[in-house]
Amino acid sequence: MTQMGQYPPADHVIVHISDTHLLGEGRALYGAVPVEQRLASALARLEAGPIKPDALVFTGDLADLGEPDAYRRLRAAVEPVAERLGAEVIWVMGNHDERAPYASLLFDEPETDEPQDRVHDIRGLRVISLDTTVPGYHHGEITETQLQWLSGVLADPAPHGSILAVHHPPVPTPLEVMAVLELHDQPALAAVLQGTDVRLILGGHLHYSTHSTFAGIPVSVAAATCYTLDLAADAERLLSGVDGAQSFDFVHIYENQVVTSTVPIAGFTEVTGFSHSYRPMIEAMTAAVRLEQLSSKLSPLNLNEAAASKA
Ligand SMILES: [Fe+2]
Ligand SMILES: [Fe+2]
Repeated sequence: MTQMGQYPPADHVIVHISDTHLLGEGRALYGAVPVEQRLASALARLEAGPIKPDALVFTGDLADLGEPDAYRRLRAAVEPVAERLGAEVIWVMGNHDERAPYASLLFDEPETDEPQDRVHDIRGLRVISLDTTVPGYHHGEITETQLQWLSGVLADPAPHGSILAVHHPPVPTPLEVMAVLELHDQPALAAVLQGTDVRLILGGHLHYSTHSTFAGIPVSVAAATCYTLDLAADAERLLSGVDGAQSFDFVHIYENQVVTSTVPIAGFTEVTGFSHSYRPMIEAMTAAVRLEQLSSKLSPLNLNEAAASKA
């Protein structure tokens, strides 16, 4: 396949999905949001699209009430899609999850109340699923034992570096009440991450897309598939969850860069575009001709023109 720009294809592609909040028996969240359908829509869009991921990372709050049936339904919805895509599934614990059913129903392991920390190797890219939950609470913590474990894992660099996947992202939030539920003692985590091969931190919990850095490492928080916390809600509302703007993210891992891109779950009416039938013609051009044909405002093949002529 012809390389069109300066970058070769990404070494790894990850789909980052968060906060599915599924309920048992396929019930609607708050009696209003068909959360199972929302997840199904996300997975359907993913499967229909051209981007083929190496892994699907779910950053927690998988089951709203930790119900066993919710985990069974989640697995039944996600695993066949992942198999067809040839992608590994990486689960992360969230504050709405419960460790015992999470371990037994998603990993076929004995029920346990221990932190659910795991390491995944995606063709040389290390993805660390770190459990930031506190049993019985909604805020986040990482125990000293977990930090020591993480430090040990990161002692040896991975061929393509590491991604740390957590539920509670180590970033500030403008939603003051959500700040009460943040990850505690973040400097202790920073001390462990500094100087390691961690290239990106993925998080959830906030139910809106947000991006930052932590200890010099990029942080990308995916919005939820269930409902969105509206940062522009009426000033009277302390917190406002809305049934709209749900999304998931693509994470493209290049040799020296990581790129995250947000994709809405809802499908919309196409108003411009052009078909794949243009590709062979574009590939057959030399780079100089391609630039002239596609970039020049005077070219009859200008992509905007091609899109307009399709309409
Ligand atoms: Fe959540
Ligand atoms: Fe959460």
